[in-house]
Amino acid sequence: MAGDGGAGGGTGSLRGGAAPGRPQHVVDLRSDTVTQPGAAMRGAMARAAVGDDDYGEDPTVNELQQLAARTLGMEDALFVPTATMANLIAVMCHCQRRGAQLLLGAQAHLHIYEHGGAAQALPDLPDGMLDLEQLELAIRETHGSRYHPRPELICLENTHSSAGGRALPLTYLQQVRLLAERYGLRVHMDGARLMNAVVSQAVEPARIAQHCDSVSLCFSKGLGAPAGAVLAGRRAFVAEAWRVRKLLGGGMRQAGVLAAAARVGLEQAEETLRRDHDNARRFAQGIKELNSPLCSVSLAAVETNMVMVEVKGLSPAELCAHLQAVSEEELAETGHAVSVLLFPWSERTVRAVWHCDVSARDTELALNKLGFVARKCQEKLGQGNSPHSTGEH
Ligand SMILES: Cc1ncc(COP(=O)(O)O)c(C=O)c1O
Repeated sequence: MAGDGGAGGGTGSLRGGAAPGRPQHVVDLRSDTVTQPGAAMRGAMARAAVGDDDYGEDPTVNELQQLAARTLGMEDALFVPTATMANLIAVMCHCQRRGAQLLLGAQAHLHIYEHGGAAQALPDLPDGMLDLEQLELAIRETHGSRYHPRPELICLENTHSSAGGRALPLTYLQQVRLLAERYGLRVHMDGARLMNAVVSQAVEPARIAQHCDSVSLCFSKGLGAPAGAVLAGRRAFVAEAWRVRKLLGGGMRQAGVLAAAARVGLEQAEETLRRDHDNARRFAQGIKELNSPLCSVSLAAVETNMVMVEVKGLSPAELCAHLQAVSEEELAETGHAVSVLLFPWSERTVRAVWHCDVSARDTELALNKLGFVARKCQEKLGQGNSPHSTGEH
């Protein structure tokens, strides 16, 4: 399974490539982390007023922190270099007693890719939620026992990346909150893609954040900034988070150049993410219309900027290799030379992620390429012996 940390690539660009001597158009759907800062963002970075943020003197960072706190309905927020650091600081602040335990989904980014070894991981449901009965049982197993670790923190991921960008329902968040209160636990939300949930559910960010003690929000995913995240919560919590950021070496100096980019990303979030979600949905619908036995999607599961494509008859890695390769045959048949970059996600799925550098036209080209690859693979699989089409599932 791939994370969001792959190397190389660009998107929507013309490059020399596999069809000898011919330029190819690259559509990079590996992750929303691969974006290039646009002109407005670069302009804002160049103009940003800066100061030493370690002394609290960077006006652009200070403004961004205030804006983020207001947006999330929290008392305060802290600018940090990465979402990983935001989550780690949250865990370190919430779980200060030795033997403290955090509970999260086994597929949570915090568990798989952020060395969340201190956690008790529970099975995630396909929609990214935790089974509340199981969660309560897990808490009750150790709660109040002097022989076990102390359950102190529940971590949620919203949107849930491994579940294909599913947005957690507000009623579920409320139920988790009530459960946490019943047992005296706190709730942290890995909101790396919180704004995708906001756009998908058409709610104010604060309506989501109100169920949490702390929320991280990343600027370098769908918001398109080159780096940075915030961790928001109550004033005393953020004061403590400042100390931990320092401890981890995450205190930055003239970080206003990054905060300026983050601000542009946040201000443009609604427009950018709505377009990404529309493109992702269009892609999923296109797969359904292809009606190919090789790949299928669940339209109902496409809520934000990700599409999980289920692959049959070849491995996800093989499908990705075919989509990336460009041939003379493709050029002759379709008139295009398009290289589509994707990550194999699990044994049977490939994940496609939309972001600000993938246009509606890129989406059509990616879909055409998938259609071409599906036809060629089916021909090779020996006309008629291929798996039966299931369409949507
Ligand atoms: C849900 C989620 N949380 C946190 C992170 C960590 O972000 P970063 O690698 O920028 O620290 C990622 C990265 O892709 C993510 O997908």
